[in-house]
Amino acid sequence: MAAPITNRAVWQDAAGVPGVVRASPLPGTDAELGDRKVLVKVHAWAVNPCDHMLQDRELGKYPAILGCDVAGTVSAAAAAASSRFRVGDRVFGVAANNGFQDYVALEDRLAAHIPGDMSFRDAVVFGLAGATAAMFLFGDGYLGLDLPGLGAPRKGKSVLVWGGSSAVGGNAVQLAAAAGYDVVATCSRKNFDYVRRLGAVQVFDYKDADVAGKVAGELDKGDCAGIFVAAGSRDGNVAACRIAAASKQGLKLASSGFIGNLGDVPAGVDVRQPTAATFKPFPDAWFETTPATFEGYLPEALSRGAYKVAPPPLVVNRRGLDGIQEAVNFMRVVSGGGLDGIKEAVDRTSEGGRGDGISPVKLVVERP
Ligand SMILES: NC(=O)c1ccc[n+]([C@@H]2O[C@H](COP(=O)([O-])OP(=O)(O)OC[C@H]3O[C@@H](n4cnc5c(N)ncnc54)[C@H](OP(=O)(O)O)[C@@H]3O)[C@@H](O)[C@H]2O)c1
Repeated sequence: MAAPITNRAVWQDAAGVPGVVRASPLPGTDAELGDRKVLVKVHAWAVNPCDHMLQDRELGKYPAILGCDVAGTVSAAAAAASSRFRVGDRVFGVAANNGFQDYVALEDRLAAHIPGDMSFRDAVVFGLAGATAAMFLFGDGYLGLDLPGLGAPRKGKSVLVWGGSSAVGGNAVQLAAAAGYDVVATCSRKNFDYVRRLGAVQVFDYKDADVAGKVAGELDKGDCAGIFVAAGSRDGNVAACRIAAASKQGLKLASSGFIGNLGDVPAGVDVRQPTAATFKPFPDAWFETTPATFEGYLPEALSRGAYKVAPPPLVVNRRGLDGIQEAVNFMRVVSGGGLDGIKEAVDRTSEGGRGDGISPVKLVVERP
């Protein structure tokens, strides 16, 4: 197996300080690749809200490497992964917080081929958001919906995706629609068309004072298979609980921002989330639903043009690892609601390139 000669990572040395680029041990030895990993030379990294949250939070163990979403070329494949991946293959995938490196060892089950002439910058948007959406929609112990498939029959049942314009929400809308559910979603009014294009049949403005009553009324027009709060943190959880409580059906509810105090949940609302006994750490938590993502539906749908690149990438810079901290800083501002300012800032840089002009974007850094 040909190993790369050097590797570097963005090292997090303490809570609340910028990451520092320096050498990192090669994850390319046979022992580190284990049975089932592929070593990927990264060409594009995407940044998620968790990257700035984890940068700011005390992790207990330093130095650490953050980062999840990568796309690049396979430079080595462990024995059990070599039936699926060959050196030179173009792949995208998700790492459990060690993605900000030049070379990343991905679990083969959490990697997939990039179809046709799709760019690294487009392919890198799916990793964490896709894995998260699939886990909450299809995972046992979450909503447990039927898996997506090309040409899946319509179920005649709805699913509510709260926060359908977010990265997680956009994947959830597409995956649930591909599983045959009629997706009802919430987002800002400016994103109604975007979320409809992803496959929602009904969209509601989450800032509307009466959104809970309106959405509950819509869901009660037929059978509803469940509610997924993709974005919106506490506000989203509160609103979704209100909808579930107002509905005449006993609705299942799962949230990407786990519901901390179940005592706040109204009676009759069926919250689906792990207990201390059933909790699985990442990356294990994503494995169960890879038939919907990396090992099944997602790459197939991408290759058939049946799945949209959503949110579209906004390239922050092309400085590779040296540009990651800038993107994490931008992500922090975006999470605070400053997306418009970020788009202008990126436009002003000579290296940057905008998304396609619609509202949501995924912040991406490319290799020089
Ligand atoms: N548990 C996990 O494993 C896991 C994994 C990944 C992410 N997450 C969490 O999932 C959430 C979404 O992540 P992401 O990457 O998708 O974020 P993102 O793309 O940055 O989401 C931003 C979008 O969320 C929408 N939003 C904000 N407040 C909302 C509200 N009250 N109700 C509905 N929508 C709202 C906004 O949509 P509009 O522009 O339309 O207003 C905004 O554009 C984050 O809280 C993240 O920490 C959890």
